[in-house]
Amino acid sequence: GSCLESVKVAIDTGYRHIDGAFVYYNEHEVGQAIREKIAEGRIKREDIFYCGKLWNTCHPPELVRPTLEKTLKILQLDYVDLYIIELPMAFKPGDAIYPKDENGKIIYHKTDLCATWEAMEACKDAGLAKSIGVSNFNRRQLEMILNKPGLKYKPVSNQVECHPYFTQPKLLEFCRQHDIVIVGYSPLGTSRDETWVNVSSPPLLKDPVLNAIGKKYNKTAAQVALRFSIQRGVVVIPKSFNPQRIRENFQIFDFSLTEKEMKEIEALNKNVRYVELLM
Ligand code: A2P
Repeated sequence: GSCLESVKVAIDTGYRHIDGAFVYYNEHEVGQAIREKIAEGRIKREDIFYCGKLWNTCHPPELVRPTLEKTLKILQLDYVDLYIIELPMAFKPGDAIYPKDENGKIIYHKTDLCATWEAMEACKDAGLAKSIGVSNFNRRQLEMILNKPGLKYKPVSNQVECHPYFTQPKLLEFCRQHDIVIVGYSPLGTSRDETWVNVSSPPLLKDPVLNAIGKKYNKTAAQVALRFSIQRGVVVIPKSFNPQRIRENFQIFDFSLTEKEMKEIEALNKNVRYVELLM
């Protein structure tokens, strides 16, 4: 229920882009929140930008459309605004989200990312996804799609970890050149959940530079981190279940960072990921 409430607070606050996935197991709550806000007359469906994701066990081309249809059924929506390949590696298809062998090792699956992409293109043609993109792709994986013979649609976006401690300068430049929007996940430095986060990298929001710059503008380190990303053209998808912080993270359009401050923050880059995706 916390997701339902948070999405409703977010929509009331003014957020329109909602980043979801089947593997977050809360798409039913996200869909309910969107539908309730439409029924209230607060928004129309076309005001919302919902991003869904194709999980690793669903890469075989024949699974792509049925998987998106399952997401749509859970959301009770007719289309997603963006559908993305969540990760460039495929796992064995089946009910297990992390299929493992008897030694606890992930069971991978041989698929062709280009064939998966063609199935994504078919979803767009069928009107089930307005746009299609990727996530956690490096330059070589993007090039593989971009250079695919007969490519019908380029990925519109690549969702990757991006924040002041992991600024992705090279990938950002490559994507800029190819008109691919970078959507930055963990823009606040994650929840530091040790089960999936590399907590040896220090907490982003405690950073002295972010806090000092925030003081100047009467903003928090979180607001400075988000502002930094949007000012360099990176879309941010901060996560919060807390109404006050949901609102705080939206108050970033009434100030701007100087070029010098942007450079100072860029210099914080440690080239270290919080989300290592070791599988
Ligand atoms: P909470 O849900 O309790 O607000 P990221 O977006 O980088 O994944 O970070 C999410 C984490 O940051 C969550 O633990 C969230 O906790 C916390 N968080 C979200 N907004 C703020 C904020 N404005 N200040 C401090 N922590 C925040």
